[in-house]
Amino acid sequence: MIPDINKIFASRATVRDFDASRNVSDELLDELIAAAAHAPNTGNMQLYSVVVTRGEELKNELAGLHFNQPAAKNCNVLLTFCADTARFDSWCRASETASGLNNFGGAVTAIVDTAIFAQQFAQLAELNGLGTCFLGTATYSAKGFIEKLGLPEGVFPVLGLAVGYPAKQCEASDRLPVEAIRHNETFGPYNEENIRRWYSEKENLPESKKFLEINNKKTLAQIYAEIRYPEPLNKALGDDLLGIMNK
Ligand SMILES: Cc1cc2nc3c(=O)[nH]c(=O)nc-3n(C[C@H](O)[C@H](O)[C@H](O)COP(=O)(O)O)c2cc1C
Repeated sequence: MIPDINKIFASRATVRDFDASRNVSDELLDELIAAAAHAPNTGNMQLYSVVVTRGEELKNELAGLHFNQPAAKNCNVLLTFCADTARFDSWCRASETASGLNNFGGAVTAIVDTAIFAQQFAQLAELNGLGTCFLGTATYSAKGFIEKLGLPEGVFPVLGLAVGYPAKQCEASDRLPVEAIRHNETFGPYNEENIRRWYSEKENLPESKKFLEINNKKTLAQIYAEIRYPEPLNKALGDDLLGIMNK
């Protein structure tokens, strides 16, 4: 084990503020895509694609689909990582067969491959001095991305990634302790005592207290469940994606 590597991973942070004077070259993007494509993927079918958006007009339109999040607006390049069964399917059709991926199972396989590829890309980008911010809003506005990016049947957005050189150093954020994540042999129980202990660091952060005040809520969990990721939003996201996959 190389100790420095673990420290680098433990101190990384999402970047939402980018240096407007620095351009991410196409050569670097190609290098990162080539290296990230060595990520493990199902049967080496590589069921993903990435759309690179640099043009200001289209970037602004896509930022709108990302609810005008500052990272989407201010980044140097905006990437859209897509689940893609269409390329493999086209190869199969050209080779006297059908892929068998045009169903929910195929879509799930492609989403898993895409997420692993995107994470490998983001990690490599960070190790190369770039800042990145994943944008889950790509799935919230999937229909808009399909339209604006001309995604064909069998291709749909999974993750946006804002990329650029960081404007400033960002601090690593809190994480649950290992004992909250790790289960030995069989799944351990959750109870009020361990749940309180594991979430207390997050609950006691000054920024968490600030969120409570701003949103006039009693608990941090209420902010997550009722404001940031409320049930109707999650349900609409699922229904939309299922509709797209069914098509
Ligand atoms: C699937 C996914 C979707 C995300 N969507 C957003 C987003 O829409 N906007 C944003 O600012 N950050 C987004 N993030 C970044 C997370 O907020 C961030 O990773 C998390 O708060 C932990 O912070 P850190 O990356 O600095 O450690 C997303 C991350 C992931 C993995």
